[in-house]
Amino acid sequence: MRIGIFDSGIGGITVLHQALRLLPNEDYLYYADTLHVPYGEKPKDEVRGYIFDAIDFIAEQGVKAVVIACNAATSVAVEDLRKKYDFPILGIEPAVKPAVEKWEGKRKKILVLATNLTLREEKFHNLVKSISREDMVDSLALPGLVQFAENFIFDEDQVIRYLREELASFDLNRYGTVVLGCTHFPFFENSLKQVFPEGVDMISGSVGTAKHLRRILEARNQINEGTGKLLFFQSGCKVEDQATLAKYKELLVMLDAYS
Ligand code: DGL
Repeated sequence: MRIGIFDSGIGGITVLHQALRLLPNEDYLYYADTLHVPYGEKPKDEVRGYIFDAIDFIAEQGVKAVVIACNAATSVAVEDLRKKYDFPILGIEPAVKPAVEKWEGKRKKILVLATNLTLREEKFHNLVKSISREDMVDSLALPGLVQFAENFIFDEDQVIRYLREELASFDLNRYGTVVLGCTHFPFFENSLKQVFPEGVDMISGSVGTAKHLRRILEARNQINEGTGKLLFFQSGCKVEDQATLAKYKELLVMLDAYS
């Protein structure tokens, strides 16, 4: 059976990329809710409705696990999704803990970049409160990056301009790590590196999520059941258009260059 990977749009491809590295002998169903992206700028209840519809659809296709490869969707729905379905449901959250551990006592702060929905939700506030040094964590919503990504605009002057404007009031020298708390953001690592001082590192939750997926499948003896076959869906419709499929695959190649 396949592994389902779900996001509001193309962001989850950053998680699919890591899953393909760690689990190349699996088949994947990637679902982008392109009709309703961006989730991060919509009310929680509306987004929850979209998520449940999407996961119902994915479940009907037959999956052995689903990764909610979206920080915003994870924060508003993962617990309730787990109650509804009998296959494992994994989520993703901003990688705040490893970032704080790295810089604790070293006079550097952490900057979490995410969507408004993720930053507003209790799950994020609880995560920050659970670490010993709350004062080390600043955050900023960057919905424009989601928009750029959905329009396949990367590394362009306008992205850098947008980032400089949004970050204008921050003293960027204070940060040791930038946490990419939205799965769309790793696509902008090059642009972000141009804006932040040299040496600031970027971390996302995608590697941890892929490792967690592998652990779960191993524990269930459900590993190596496929051949790396990819199926793409957009809001319930199978993507057959070759140009769109080629764009998705180009994104996977683009991510190869980052690591
Ligand atoms: N990729 C999603 C995340 O990780 C959110 C993008 C959106 O606003 O839809 O939070």
